[in-house]
Amino acid sequence: MEIRFEKAKTLKEKPDQSALGFGKYYTDHMLIVDWDKDQGGWHDARIVPYGPLQLEPSTMVLHYAQETFEGLKAYRNPKGEVQLFRPEMNAKRMQESNKRLCMPYLEVEDFIQCVETLVKTEQDWIPTAPETSLYIRPFMFATEPGVGVHPATSYKFIIILTPVGNYYPEGVAPVKIWIEDEYVRAVKGGTGFTKCGGNYAGSLKAQEKAEAHGYTQVLWLDGNEKKYVEEVGSMNIMFLINDTVVTAPTEGTVLPGVTRDSMLTLLRDWGYKVEERHLDVEDLMEAARTGALKEAWGTGTAAVISPVGQLCYKGEECKINNFETGELTQKLYDTLTGIQWGKLEDKFNWTRIVK
Ligand code: COI
Repeated sequence: MEIRFEKAKTLKEKPDQSALGFGKYYTDHMLIVDWDKDQGGWHDARIVPYGPLQLEPSTMVLHYAQETFEGLKAYRNPKGEVQLFRPEMNAKRMQESNKRLCMPYLEVEDFIQCVETLVKTEQDWIPTAPETSLYIRPFMFATEPGVGVHPATSYKFIIILTPVGNYYPEGVAPVKIWIEDEYVRAVKGGTGFTKCGGNYAGSLKAQEKAEAHGYTQVLWLDGNEKKYVEEVGSMNIMFLINDTVVTAPTEGTVLPGVTRDSMLTLLRDWGYKVEERHLDVEDLMEAARTGALKEAWGTGTAAVISPVGQLCYKGEECKINNFETGELTQKLYDTLTGIQWGKLEDKFNWTRIVK
């Protein structure tokens, strides 16, 4: 794919790396590729100055939400090289999301070329302070004007970049999780496995409720019976119950997380018993009450590995591991970030140097 470059006239000042937060600053450029049915598909790939988009009020995404996105990160390794973590997984996941929403998609190698070309252009923006990285947000949406409901005939694929620190204000410290028993996130046959904006829009009501009770995130139960634990708002979740790691299976309602897959691979490699199975919320709470629940942690690109220190279900609050980061949670965090930042051996060949 040929990618044209239009350089920004003035470059922004880089933010202080000790106070990046998550998604507060955007780099100088963005990448755009258009897709038009009547022009034979993808065309006009370009890197242009970061700035507002002009859209007609009737633009279809604003009405019927044909939109998908991805999240991955670029890191500066100790040799000064730029590296990505399993970008092909994001490319493939976006293909699956787009198929479900009747949207066209990029070939894996084109997706990676777009990410790498933009990251290379903006590599001075990759922060180097501990626990920071350059978050990459590819997204795609329907641009056809019109208010009839049908798959659009034109789309934009865009990538923007934001230097980030920790996703949660708590940093790498235990978070409190609210188990939601009223609203649901996904049902069988729905869009739960996709990264589409609509999944997140529908989650905000419960998130507000959790926050009003002093909780950071929502843990969703399955949408059919409200009985089995699925995933958290911005991450997958795993539980160490006695000596077994348990997490929800990816059967259509749970996001197939890249970090989730990587952690399951590491755990199996270390000899842990791992079960991808339905976990009844009552059994989880009983394990929390009796202390059989030793540790819990979230996994996600934005959240990395995030210890869970407390659960609340139907008004009952249970602490996990005395609200402290568990040994296994810490080991997973250290190993994952060690590989991502190029400080530990990458025996699974997960990282990819941007040349
Ligand atoms: C990510 O982990 O990259 C995500 O896209 C989650 C998002 C809700 C911040």
